[in-house]
Amino acid sequence: MTNDARAHDGGVLAHDDVGSGTPLVLLHGFPLTRHLWDAQRAALSSRCRVITPDLRGFGESAALAHDGRLTMARHADDVAALLDALAIDRAIIGGLSMGGYVTLAFWRRHRDRVRALVLADTRASADTDATRERRVATIALARAEGALAVADAQIASSLGATTRRTHPALVHRIRDMMATVSAATMVAALEGMLARDDATPWLGTIDVPTLLMVGDEDAITPAKEMRAMHERIAGSVLEVIEQSGHLSPVEQPARFDEALMRFVRAV
Ligand code: MLT
Repeated sequence: MTNDARAHDGGVLAHDDVGSGTPLVLLHGFPLTRHLWDAQRAALSSRCRVITPDLRGFGESAALAHDGRLTMARHADDVAALLDALAIDRAIIGGLSMGGYVTLAFWRRHRDRVRALVLADTRASADTDATRERRVATIALARAEGALAVADAQIASSLGATTRRTHPALVHRIRDMMATVSAATMVAALEGMLARDDATPWLGTIDVPTLLMVGDEDAITPAKEMRAMHERIAGSVLEVIEQSGHLSPVEQPARFDEALMRFVRAV
């Protein structure tokens, strides 16, 4: 069921809210929508209340704020406003890649609302010079040629070699999902990621159960980055998902869901 909730400054976050039990919020990556989590909604809703918003600017939450900016802090505050609207005090907060950057910003800004954390295919560090250059080029591409061109440029690095070889239908599905995101949102999100803080110093403050997951073929946020995070988060659990690239929840949903379910049960 799709619902709407007021974001903190009057916007609307569309979201799915299914199941009952411990609330579990899952935040999608760039340039994707809440449909990244379709398999997890189905698999985990017997055990928890699964809430999957379209982050501001994406999917059915397409409207941008008046200043057009999409910072990780703004997304985090939107998620807090969503919890308020749903009368949820504390939840397991999780995110993939950009959703992971938002999850870390949420921890920094709203940690009293966090029951546990899930960080999938993401990193804590700020952009390297090479990543900054790539983002600036992608901003130019989005402005000049639009969303489909960005989807075409991004799809190969987003999915692992195994998926690209064996799952052509999934490749098309993800490319189509990416192409639903407007060029304006892509530009704002890329600028927001460029401007994000280095979250590494915050990792030592995490004192809630934390699950880290990464595909062994992830070319965007490789396993070694997540191992470094794992070492800095006391008591965290790291699961490496075999035969998966950057989008592990859709590339290997059974393995991803099993690890997530194990974690949720333990929490
Ligand atoms: C994502 O999947 O959210 C992006 O690849 C993150 C990024 O570009 O840093």
